[in-house]
Amino acid sequence: MASQDSGPVLLTPGAAVGKTEPVIGGETQTWPQDPEDVPIAMWDSGTFVMELINLHLSPKKLQLTELTKSEQKTVNANPEALLAVALPPPCIKEGTYRGTQLAITKMYELVESNYKSYMDAANFEPTVPTPLDVLKKREFFSFTCPNLDDPLADNFPPHLNLAANKDWSIKAETSQKSSLSPVDLFNKMRLAQLSQLLPSLIPESFLGRSASKAAQTVANLKFGDMGRPDAGNTIKEVEDYQRRERGKSFWKRNDIFDLPNIGDLIDWYTDERFAQQFFTGTNPTTIELASDFWIKHFLDSAQPEDAKIRTKIEKLSKEARGSLYVQDYSYFREAAGMGASDVIKCEYEYVDNGKKVKGTRYGVAAVCLFHLSEDTGKLAPLAIVCDWRGSKENSVTIYNQEPPRSGSDQAVDWPWRYAKTCVQTSDWLQHEVTVHLTNTHLIEEATIVGVQWSFPDTHFVFQLLYPHWQKTLALNAAARGTLVPHVINELIGFTKEQSTRFTLHAFNSFDFQGRYAPEDLRRRGFPPETLNDARSRNYAWARCIHSMWGKIRRYVEGMLSLEYPQPNADRDVARDPCIRDWCEIMQKDPAFKDGGAGLKSFPTIRTFDQLVDAVTMCIHIASPQHTSINYLQNYYQAFVINKPPCLYTPPPVSRAELMAYKEKEFVLALPINHPKEWLLASHIPYLLSFKPGDKESLIQYACSKYNVYKAKRRDEDRHAPEIAGYARKFYTELADSELEFKKFGRDTFDSSVITYDVLSPSWNAVSILI
Ligand SMILES: [Fe+2]
Repeated sequence: MASQDSGPVLLTPGAAVGKTEPVIGGETQTWPQDPEDVPIAMWDSGTFVMELINLHLSPKKLQLTELTKSEQKTVNANPEALLAVALPPPCIKEGTYRGTQLAITKMYELVESNYKSYMDAANFEPTVPTPLDVLKKREFFSFTCPNLDDPLADNFPPHLNLAANKDWSIKAETSQKSSLSPVDLFNKMRLAQLSQLLPSLIPESFLGRSASKAAQTVANLKFGDMGRPDAGNTIKEVEDYQRRERGKSFWKRNDIFDLPNIGDLIDWYTDERFAQQFFTGTNPTTIELASDFWIKHFLDSAQPEDAKIRTKIEKLSKEARGSLYVQDYSYFREAAGMGASDVIKCEYEYVDNGKKVKGTRYGVAAVCLFHLSEDTGKLAPLAIVCDWRGSKENSVTIYNQEPPRSGSDQAVDWPWRYAKTCVQTSDWLQHEVTVHLTNTHLIEEATIVGVQWSFPDTHFVFQLLYPHWQKTLALNAAARGTLVPHVINELIGFTKEQSTRFTLHAFNSFDFQGRYAPEDLRRRGFPPETLNDARSRNYAWARCIHSMWGKIRRYVEGMLSLEYPQPNADRDVARDPCIRDWCEIMQKDPAFKDGGAGLKSFPTIRTFDQLVDAVTMCIHIASPQHTSINYLQNYYQAFVINKPPCLYTPPPVSRAELMAYKEKEFVLALPINHPKEWLLASHIPYLLSFKPGDKESLIQYACSKYNVYKAKRRDEDRHAPEIAGYARKFYTELADSELEFKKFGRDTFDSSVITYDVLSPSWNAVSILI
């Protein structure tokens, strides 16, 4: 058996971790002699795949003849629709929490790898592209068309159609095309069926610690608890499990508990920690000035016992109107196609004691009113609508205490804790589906398809954008096939159809120009010129992202000035047919043939400045914007009760019902004792938070660009010295952000506990990689 005091040893490759063990001659061996002593960090791929076959979980070929005529029509238009008719095999009966974590990790790795191979073979994302002209590219870059009337359609916002262009496929020439025939394209879509297996790997019931095998008990003692982080009757039990696991730092096992998360903090639930997440958490992008409507609502809904806080809101609204902010999720029902007072709920089945039982997940559309202190820059929650149901009368509004209380007092204020959880649950949906999936992954994909459709590979604009597309198309296809249907839709309160409508609404209402960083900050009540004032000191995201926008824009402006020099830059931009085509295809309505992305807010580019802004935006979305809203998911979401994706009891329908909430009601509402949902909600953020390697960072891109161009002569590239100059300047500006952003991070009130460094050069990815 390994000795406890020999320190952690990382066994690579494979990242299996064990302990050193004394052997004859005083030498040590890194692998424990007994396999029971090895905490597996990752399943061996071959063993895993063979086990899938033994469990009858191998992907089965789906014959097109199995489809009805209308299904065939839909599949012909968009092969991703196949996912809707592929029935997953039944779930395995029993498993451990830890084993399921490992299986999901491996399965997602296989799914991503399959999509990458497909995109390469189909020439959508080739490892090394063959330069193509626009007409050739139009033969296989096209948009899908959502169709809510067709239950089989994938109904994601317009995205790359994996069928390529059928005419082209049928009349295939010999070169410069996908190496896949139309038949291959459909057969290769079997890869999508691999993604259907993910839910089958999640056991119907989880073995708890008591039911674990004896061998596991031994492993538990040495390598960590193989029980369930979701189990408990009190908040403390869940906190204790988390801290016990996190405390086992004497060895590393490459899993979720190696990484810090907000549950490490004793006061994770307090108002301070809650509010700061809207400045430096997973979604720092939507907090905005409170409208007159919401201020009136919070004044009108106050009860006599809320007099003190009501007075405060009234005073602020008169004397410091610009210090009242909201997180407003009140539009959820409308966006999902629901009635104003419909309950947001989704029924599901689970197994309890061997019997199938029906359960219900609930969603909420909260609204939270905040006060931003002009002196300290601290955000404080004042009042919360737990779930906006279209009117004051139909909604429950709760007010904070005034003056604010200590952390220990807050700990047992269950109604207020519940209300804050409603805000976090609403934000989970808005963050994952709107801010993350739609506003970065799907919008970026639309720009990729639009650019591919409009520019030859030799065009200057194409070459400026291309490096920011690494892996994105494959990743998005995998997300549509796996993460959305089998993770997001299994966790939220919406039904599948409501989720679809909600995503389409997010895409259709995305304000491309309004989301340019400076305009976005100004519109939401954080004018860029105030970002160094005391009021903004805690909004580190805004300070970093605004600075990044400037750095990217200066680089883009310099680079584009080479192709569109003054004094005729505006004229040359307006005359460029590729730019004109790009704007048209981005704005054009989706259609079954030759449709566009339907993004009406995409600019009609007629000037040099408009072009610089649009190109800057494409890089901004792919790089710092996605980085900032992706890589903190593990920290804030692995401890699931901080930000649960749904609730498990119906939201209270009256203030009196909410005020009667005790810990028992709070625990029942949370994903506590829901192992499957806890696992998905904690493990997927963990998988998605892997740090980009240095070779995939934006600064490495700038450095490479400089090094490639510094050696070129002008006769090789007429702009070579200038390109090297702009790349060098961009690199230096990015390098400078290391200290600049460190200072922004240090300015936040909580910097001694949480270091905000997600936009530092080594985290800032070059594209949407994950
Ligand atoms: Fe992402």
